Amino acid sequence: MDTNSIEKAYKRYANIYDLTFDRIFHHGRELSAGLLEPMPGDRILEVGVGTGLTLPFFPDECQITGIDLSEHMLTKAHQKVASHGMKNVEVIQMDAMKMDFPDNHFDSVIAAYVISVVPDPVCVLKEMLRVCKKGGRVVFINHFQCDNRLISSLERLVSPLSRHLGFKTDLELEPLLSQVPELSVQKVEGVNLYNYWKVVQGINNKDATAKEGVNC
Ligand SMILES: C[S@@+](CC[C@H](N)C(=O)[O-])C[C@H]1O[C@@H](n2cnc3c(N)ncnc32)[C@H](O)[C@@H]1O
Repeated sequence: MDTNSIEKAYKRYANIYDLTFDRIFHHGRELSAGLLEPMPGDRILEVGVGTGLTLPFFPDECQITGIDLSEHMLTKAHQKVASHGMKNVEVIQMDAMKMDFPDNHFDSVIAAYVISVVPDPVCVLKEMLRVCKKGGRVVFINHFQCDNRLISSLERLVSPLSRHLGFKTDLELEPLLSQVPELSVQKVEGVNLYNYWKVVQGINNKDATAKEGVNC
C-alpha cells in the first residue's frame, strides 16, 4: 500500500467513516486513550487522527496534536474540533513516516487503527518513539493477524485487496515488536468484538538502543 492509494481510500471513506466505524471501535479508542495515563499539561500526539473520533477521550487540560495524511479525513476532524469547542486540540496534515516535529517533543503518543494502514509500520513506530520523550507512553491499537489458523488463512487470502480496503489484514504483532526494541511493552490486551483487536501499551525506552534519527 502506498500513500497515493491510502489518500484515495480515505477520500472514499471520509463521508461515511463515523457512521461505519464510530461505535464498533469506540471501546478500543476509549481504552487506548486511558492507557496513555495523561497528566494535566501533557503534550499528546495522535497519529492518524482521521475524523477525530478519539479526541473527546483526551482531558481538556492536555495539549493535543493530531496528524493525518488525508485532507478529507482532516476536514471532518476540523469540524469536530470546532463543534465540540476543543480549544486544546490542533489537527494538521502530516505524514506519520516523516514527521516535522523535533525529537522528544511529546509526553505521549497514540495511534488508533493506523499501524496496519501505513506503508511502513516499523518506520511509523520509530517516528512515534523519536518524537516522544524517553519514559513517555506509546499506545497503539490495531488488528493483528489472528492466532486461529482458519481465520489467519482467510486474512492472508484477502490481503491482496489491502490497496482497495485501505488497510492490511495480515500484519503480525510479534515480528513488528521485535523491530522496535526501544519500546518496552507493558501490556497487550484484546479489545472490541471477539477481542479481535489488540491494544499495546509501552514505555519509550529509546536510549536502550542509543539510536538517533529515523531513516525509512
Ligand atoms: C482506519 S483510519 C483511523 C482513524 C482514527 N484514528 C480512528 O480511530 O478512527 C486510519 C487513518 O490513518 C491515516 N493515515 C494513513 N497513512 C498515514 C500516514 N502515513 N500518515 C498519517 N496518517 C496516515 C489515514 O488517512 C486514516 O485517516
